[in-house]
Amino acid sequence: MHSLDAGQQQHPVNASLLFCLRIRIAFRNRTLYSFPAREFDGRRAERQTMKRLRPLFTALFFCALFACPSFAQQSDVAPTPPMGWNSWNHFAGRIDDQIVREQAKAMVTSGLKKAGYKYIVIDDTWAGDRDAQGFIQPNKKFPDMKALADYVHSLGLKFGIYSSPAGKTCAGYTGSRDHAQQDAETYAKWGVDYLKYDWCQRPGDPERLKAAYEEMHQALLKTGRPIVYSLCEYGWFQVWRWGASVGGNLWRTTGDVSDNYWAMSNIGFGQNGLQNFAGPGHWNDPDMLEVGNGGMSEDGYRTQMSLWSILAAPLMAGNDLTKMTPYTIELLTNPEVISVDQDPLGKQGYRVAQEGPLEIWMKPMADGSKVVGLFNRQTTADPMTVNFDEIGVRGEATIRDLWLRKDLGTFKDKFSAYVPGQGVVLVRIKEK
Ligand code: GLA
Repeated sequence: MHSLDAGQQQHPVNASLLFCLRIRIAFRNRTLYSFPAREFDGRRAERQTMKRLRPLFTALFFCALFACPSFAQQSDVAPTPPMGWNSWNHFAGRIDDQIVREQAKAMVTSGLKKAGYKYIVIDDTWAGDRDAQGFIQPNKKFPDMKALADYVHSLGLKFGIYSSPAGKTCAGYTGSRDHAQQDAETYAKWGVDYLKYDWCQRPGDPERLKAAYEEMHQALLKTGRPIVYSLCEYGWFQVWRWGASVGGNLWRTTGDVSDNYWAMSNIGFGQNGLQNFAGPGHWNDPDMLEVGNGGMSEDGYRTQMSLWSILAAPLMAGNDLTKMTPYTIELLTNPEVISVDQDPLGKQGYRVAQEGPLEIWMKPMADGSKVVGLFNRQTTADPMTVNFDEIGVRGEATIRDLWLRKDLGTFKDKFSAYVPGQGVVLVRIKEK
């Protein structure tokens, strides 16, 4: 397994501070300057030189410090997987200013905001033409993007938008090609906090693709505004290996999800093996949630929430937040399930055992416990067992059912449960 490039990278702020420190040490050790020794009166002259250069060190130090916000989308903006709502899965091209306002309001009144959801992201179909100077304008569905962003912010939420490195977006609207810097500036001016950047046509050359993502990364950095950077190119050229190096905070690893168990489960269970490429600040993204859109059974949606949480996947609701059944709200807001997704350790879970359509997945948690999902992918219910040695637990352990929010007691060596068809039992196991 290759190691993650981004993991080896130094945070830019640390790198700048270190740079200052190195210069200072170099001066101390006289490796950076080489005045003739005669001109120095030993240590006194050196002290004087250091004194003269003090303002320079101070300036460099503060430069590094104040550069901090402009590097934010490297990792600070997404220490845990982003949570929010995106317009595409439910509204697609029918999205407009009014609907976005209603969704934002519902995110607050339904309790989703309280549960941790915060980004309201407008997907494709908002862009209009460019003005004479080349600045992008929204189309007539969005009369005033800045006012809309202000409204979203006034609710204590964050505002996201969508574009493409290509000339056209997937739905044929104006993309950012040749205008990355101008578009980044416009987003910053509007108050954008999240950008989904989506390239629909696979280029033959991976370097072209990487360069286009890096170009927008640099453009965003230049604005000085912390903006979550979401790459969308369906996993082409193993994006999980290089997504973080072009500034991605998350990157889609697959094609589009849709609102049926087959599509959702193929994507979700197909994530096994990518766990080493995700971590705080940079996440694998198996696409948005379909919970509440009506195409799956309750167990199907429970499977998506459980699996996405084990995967430490971004939780972007994709339903109509103004029309949710109590059950949909319960599925989207269960705090114990969300805390699996948002665990600060930031480990993506993986499959530990499989017997045909029965799969056991495990996510290591910051407190040392293990979250285990017993997933039944066939249509009829079946008993399933997790053996503690499969998850690195020895002897006795306490077990809590996260959907029932109930302690199940102490178990030794294994745990068995009856799992509904296309359903899941999600438990947290803590060695005693
Ligand atoms: C692609 C993306 C979707 C959505 C649409 C919009 O298909 O994968 O998530 O953004 O484009 O056109």
